[in-house]
Amino acid sequence: MAKTAFIGLGVMGYPMAGHLKKGGHEVAVYNRTTAKAERWAKDHGGSFAPTPREAAEGAEFVFTCVGNDDDLRAVVLGDDGAFAGMAEGTIFVDHTTASADVARELAETGGARGIEVIDAPVSGGQAGAENGVLTVMCGGESAAFDKAKPVIDCFARSCVLMGAAGAGQLTKMVNQLCIAGLLQGLSEGMNFGLKAGLDMEKVIEVISKGAAQSWQMENRAGTMCKGEFDFGFAVDWMRKDLGIALAEADRNGARLPVAALVDQFYAQVQARGGRRWDTSSLIHLLAND
Ligand SMILES: NC(=O)c1ccc[n+]([C@@H]2O[C@H](COP(=O)([O-])OP(=O)(O)OC[C@H]3O[C@@H](n4cnc5c(N)ncnc54)[C@H](OP(=O)(O)O)[C@@H]3O)[C@@H](O)[C@H]2O)c1
Repeated sequence: MAKTAFIGLGVMGYPMAGHLKKGGHEVAVYNRTTAKAERWAKDHGGSFAPTPREAAEGAEFVFTCVGNDDDLRAVVLGDDGAFAGMAEGTIFVDHTTASADVARELAETGGARGIEVIDAPVSGGQAGAENGVLTVMCGGESAAFDKAKPVIDCFARSCVLMGAAGAGQLTKMVNQLCIAGLLQGLSEGMNFGLKAGLDMEKVIEVISKGAAQSWQMENRAGTMCKGEFDFGFAVDWMRKDLGIALAEADRNGARLPVAALVDQFYAQVQARGGRRWDTSSLIHLLAND
């Protein structure tokens, strides 16, 4: 059993840290809003620290799951950052969805201190985190990955090394690009069916057994037809993720015409007050124009 620290107890991090504790590991947590860290320590019987550095001190594995690149730098670098508390030979695993650039930057900065760094964004949403069945896509050195994988497995159904530093984040970009276009197609199909006066429960039941089947159809098509979006993966997060992918595509030359368009649709959802709505809320633009 390992000595671990978990930094960032949001929708995802809170249950992920809980699975580490349930898996028998020692867990010290840090959260910017201390009340959440206190509640976590009470719920799970772990300890909480006033800074990322103090949470990380003495830990063999330090995990983070915060918002974006800048949030990540804020909890990792500087005098009170996690790296300042980590010893040589320890392993840093980041579950934030961030850029491949920041993953490489932290791998280099950590490497200079003898800390092994793995970028490890996740897929599977809040339910995946709560049920401990996330998909984790990793970038880094295989020796560090082999040591971290059994610990990550506490909250993962699948955990795969994709390549060198940044490869986990690049894989997550592919994941988000696939979802964005699919959700617009699903929105158009559901909205069309509603306008045609079809029984949409029946439609979803039939077509989800055919070639149109997808996770989004099985889990989101019903709620999309009812206009329910108060759950799931926030539009603000999706815009961050599409922004990261669009910037990466500028460099690697990939064309992303649909993703760029869907990103603009999400900007319209935000303007309607939907910043925290689930990403399936694209249908709101079609149904309410
Ligand atoms: N939610 C999902 O379904 C999902 C699925 C896959 C991947 N992700 C990714 O996972 C990451 C976390 O998502 P989430 O849904 O857990 O977000 P969240 O509920 O908004 O939680 C964000 C966490 O990061 C902390 N944080 C943010 N900025 C910080 C800063 N500058 N300094 C210190 N702490 C900071 C927050 O602290 P406070 O409590 O103080 O605000 C909170 O603990 C994101 O990168 C997201 O894209 C989310």
